[in-house]
Amino acid sequence: MTRADEAVIRRGDVLEVRWSSGQVSRLHYLWLRDNCDCAECRVVQTSEKRFMISDVPADIAPLAVSLDGDRLVLVWPDGHETVYDGQHIAALHATDAGEWTPWDSGFSPSRYPFDAFLDDDSLASAAITEFLDKGAIILQQAPTRPGTLESLSPRLGPIREVLFARIHDVQVDPGGYNIAHTAIALPPHNDFASYSWPPSVQALHMLVNEADGGESVIVDGWNVLSTLRQQHPDYFQALCEMPVPFREFDDDNETYAVAPLVRCDADGNLVSLRFSNQLMQTLDPGVPGVGEFYRAYHALCGLLTADNARARFRLDGGDILVVAAHRVLHGREAFEPTGPRHLQDAYFELDNVRNHLVVLKRRGAQVHE
Ligand SMILES: [Fe+2]
Ligand SMILES: [Zn+2]
Repeated sequence: MTRADEAVIRRGDVLEVRWSSGQVSRLHYLWLRDNCDCAECRVVQTSEKRFMISDVPADIAPLAVSLDGDRLVLVWPDGHETVYDGQHIAALHATDAGEWTPWDSGFSPSRYPFDAFLDDDSLASAAITEFLDKGAIILQQAPTRPGTLESLSPRLGPIREVLFARIHDVQVDPGGYNIAHTAIALPPHNDFASYSWPPSVQALHMLVNEADGGESVIVDGWNVLSTLRQQHPDYFQALCEMPVPFREFDDDNETYAVAPLVRCDADGNLVSLRFSNQLMQTLDPGVPGVGEFYRAYHALCGLLTADNARARFRLDGGDILVVAAHRVLHGREAFEPTGPRHLQDAYFELDNVRNHLVVLKRRGAQVHE
């Protein structure tokens, strides 16, 4: 039996469908034609789309529409038939991306044993889930051998290489190219703001820490931005709009990018904070909006360096701090080089970390079937 008369209504170039659950979907005709799931419109082997929307007129409309249960059948002017399952369309409305829990100075990253993170799928799955929610975890009891970060590739990788080094050494170095190679305090920042796409995940591996001081500091940049957005929407907007130059270089390397400090997606959700006081270059003073930008930047710096934003802890030899670097800033307090302090950094990409979690869950579901 079809319920097309009462459950399917044509409104201009949109089909309004009332499913058996009572939920209503408004489906544009071009959308309906483009997403046809048939063997002619898809590469069956890979389920990739093969149909190209420009092969039909922009004003295409179905000749006939019928709804049987939640099975929607459309017949197009050339006789092509498209069938949709209402539950499949309803599932498209569900959003699972973008969930994150803000934190402040009271936060302390969850800790997981390094070996178990590599060997135990369910522990790795829990750790990555926590990482995506909070933007920071610590892997502990890792080997203190240089290059250990390479072994995180199966879980987080591949390594995102940037210039200077594949694995970066951070220790006091009179010839170093960066403030990190001194003993002075490092304000919260993310690395390689001088790339148009800075690394989105950073792992900081403490090999040895026998210096006095040098506590690690992390800040939930997105939490700070959310506060700023509430208090001063105009400041937030200025940070989204003003392009800011960043540079990191030495004799053999030159990296440079110009981009706003804050980026949002089309729905206004935060995507990334780019913040590095040490790498920021001089703005052209003649560009319109410098005054507005600086007022906003002043407020942002105040919030990012405030005590109530700084989660503070000590990294000992064998600890690896992993941060979602487009959200969480890292820094350290000044230290007295009374003993050796050696850290190594490597970078990964959040897309790959997310995909590892999907694959882990898929594998887990198969094991439990
Ligand atoms: Fe850094
Ligand atoms: Zn088709």
